[in-house]
Amino acid sequence: MADLFRKKSIEHLMKEAEPGEHTLKRTLGPWALIAIGIGAIIGAGLFVQTANAAASHAGPAVTIAFVLAGLGCAFAGLCYAEFASIIPIAGSAYTYSYATMGEFVAWIIGWDLVLEYAIGAATVSIAWSEYLNKLLSYFGVEIPYAWCHSPFEHINAVLGSNIAKFPAELASTAKEGMLLLRDDQLASLPANLQGLVETSQGMVNLPALFILLALTLLLIRGMQESAFINGLIVVAKVSVVILFIVLGWSYINPANHAEYIPAATTFTTSDGVAHAFGGFWGIIGAAGVVFFAFIGFDAVSTTAQEAKNPGRDMPIGILGSLAVCTVLYILFAHVLTGVASVEDFRTNGKEASVAFAIQNYMPGYEWLAKGVTVAILAGFSSVILVMLMGQSRVFYSMSRDGLVPKVFSDIHPKFKTPHKSNWIFLAFVGAFAAFVPGSIVGEMTSIGTLFAFMLVCAGVWILRVKHPNLPRKFKTPLVPLVPILGILACGVMIYGLGWTNWMRLLVWLAIGVVVYFVYGIRNSKLGKSH
Ligand code: ALA
Repeated sequence: MADLFRKKSIEHLMKEAEPGEHTLKRTLGPWALIAIGIGAIIGAGLFVQTANAAASHAGPAVTIAFVLAGLGCAFAGLCYAEFASIIPIAGSAYTYSYATMGEFVAWIIGWDLVLEYAIGAATVSIAWSEYLNKLLSYFGVEIPYAWCHSPFEHINAVLGSNIAKFPAELASTAKEGMLLLRDDQLASLPANLQGLVETSQGMVNLPALFILLALTLLLIRGMQESAFINGLIVVAKVSVVILFIVLGWSYINPANHAEYIPAATTFTTSDGVAHAFGGFWGIIGAAGVVFFAFIGFDAVSTTAQEAKNPGRDMPIGILGSLAVCTVLYILFAHVLTGVASVEDFRTNGKEASVAFAIQNYMPGYEWLAKGVTVAILAGFSSVILVMLMGQSRVFYSMSRDGLVPKVFSDIHPKFKTPHKSNWIFLAFVGAFAAFVPGSIVGEMTSIGTLFAFMLVCAGVWILRVKHPNLPRKFKTPLVPLVPILGILACGVMIYGLGWTNWMRLLVWLAIGVVVYFVYGIRNSKLGKSH
């Protein structure tokens, strides 16, 4: 019987990290690491999921959800920082757990990280598609609805002069010459008015596929995002966020904030699932959704081999980028939910919500809406790139350990990148991006990452007990309190994501367990060397 808990020794890992096999240069200082963190963090979570969480879960109290999610990430971030300072090599949470909790748990984490990185990339590519449409609209071009939405999405629209034929309270919600109706609103209309409504059905999200293909090609060519380009994108993203906060502040409509924490009720999303809106559970649900906005700080830990002084700078990079983003997020969410209403985010402002809010409620700032759109598109691209890269890195490590087939670590003779792995993941990520709605893949990403964070928190605690004397350049404070709080905070957010997401996570992990017993356990190099 194979040993499910066989572990890679820390000494073995340290050896793998020695120069020779990996000859990465140690060039990154604390500021560069913070910039890498922010480059990977600020993306669809802020610019798309904020409105989604406000619309479906918490209203303006989405700000409180950001505080909760940020706290959970801070606990997990402290644990990541300790690991990154002990085992400064690529592979991230997968590698840490192979050394601490054994092969089976490492496998589960590696498998689970597919949700974070691959499905995360799909989520951001769908958001990219929304903002591309927005950008094209400035030039009077529009991609037909069917070609930029999944088959599970549709909209009911009334156009032009027909809008005036509708009851005033509906007609007055029309924006940009278009009245959008929810299904329940449509169903309650008399038949003659229903006849004026055009329903468009989604088919395939082509722009999302396009950006994934373009970035996969870039990855295969091995054109590493240079620190310079990443720096430019970070400056653009952060400027846009700060500009929106500062300029939007005076356009906050107190009526939108009148019920800051909406009374607890239920809300049915477009996929037909009813869940808590408002009140305590609404905020917890929103925290699980906006948690997506923080994903990426762990990407800093994958650059540990390139940091000049990982022991000191990893914690600074991880916790510094997290702190900057948390403050910006809370202010941004406060302004966004003040400028536009929850009802907007359920209808016309559902997509490209930030540009929508500026265009409709901040007269004179059209230039800002355009700038925001361009900066957001660039920002999303860097997030997708990091996620696709993270995915291929994790599977590269797993493949070298024999847990997934060798094809995932085959290196291109010229470009020296795992090109076959990149193509396989393009097919996988592309299928989700093309055919699944953004809110669903976003929640799958969040639940997968939350689960990985819980295991990392547990790992730090286990390592302290089992190997108390390992040299630790950074120590998570107050162990086991901080890991326990991390596990609890992530657990509560998982709870808040609701049973549909628990089922998705369980099904994904169950598939993983089957794959492990059919393939990984027999091909594990560690197993063969025993
Ligand atoms: N945190 C990243 C984003 O919001 C994944 O897009």
